[in-house]
Amino acid sequence: MRQNEGVYVGIVKNNRPLVAGNWKMNGLKNAVQEIIKLQTSLQDLVSLGCDVLVCPPATLLSHFEAVVSEGQVPLLLGGQDCHMAVSGAHTGDISAQMLKDVGCEYVIVGHSERRSDHNETNEMVQAKAKAAIEAGLIPIICVGESEEERVAGQTLTVVTSQLRGSVPPESKGNEIIIAYEPVWAIGTGKVPEVKDVADVHQMIRKELASILGHGGQELRILYGGSVKADNAGTLMAIDNVDGALVGGASLRADDFTGILKVYSS
Ligand code: 13P
Repeated sequence: MRQNEGVYVGIVKNNRPLVAGNWKMNGLKNAVQEIIKLQTSLQDLVSLGCDVLVCPPATLLSHFEAVVSEGQVPLLLGGQDCHMAVSGAHTGDISAQMLKDVGCEYVIVGHSERRSDHNETNEMVQAKAKAAIEAGLIPIICVGESEEERVAGQTLTVVTSQLRGSVPPESKGNEIIIAYEPVWAIGTGKVPEVKDVADVHQMIRKELASILGHGGQELRILYGGSVKADNAGTLMAIDNVDGALVGGASLRADDFTGILKVYSS
């Protein structure tokens, strides 16, 4: 049995799932109340069969860390981006080491909003993922096609080339996580058909096995894009979906808990 292998409540998965909340540019200091509420809800959930990660804006990390480290439940913290350099003259940027220093274990890299707002290329995303691994963080590398690409039937081609360009080929399977987030599904309430998610995740698994060798099998592949409590059960049950990357529905503890319940008895 592999280290991560197991049967999780309700849903059978090879890899221990991860449900990650990406708060994006939302939240002020008083949002710590949602973290406290989330901790209480997690305590009430019987045998939670997934890891739970919150990625707030960088300004809130140390504030949240103080609460998380005192809590009874293992709540993980992550950043939403990091610079590829360890330090230096990069005004406004944050290094992977700084995220690690403040208590993060994960960092999202290559989110479609970073790729479009900041013109991030696959090469830059790969360099950020490498910097994260070197700092002892697990990068969550995001890929996903636009609406235009989907309509043109280019989903698999686009995602394959993003994977080849963004995944550090020398990394081990347990050092990285992939998040498949169709750009057209983010914040729109639209989700792909179950078969489409299954096809893309299966292709990602195959492609990772070819890039990384056997490491591709135990690597977690998350789905992201309009995940809510009412569709999480269906999405999380799909083969090769090892958890979720959640935007809007991660901001309020009640909504996020509704999703986490999928992995609880
Ligand atoms: P929504 O869950 O709001 O669609 O956002 C998804 C996302 O971009 C998470 O990174």
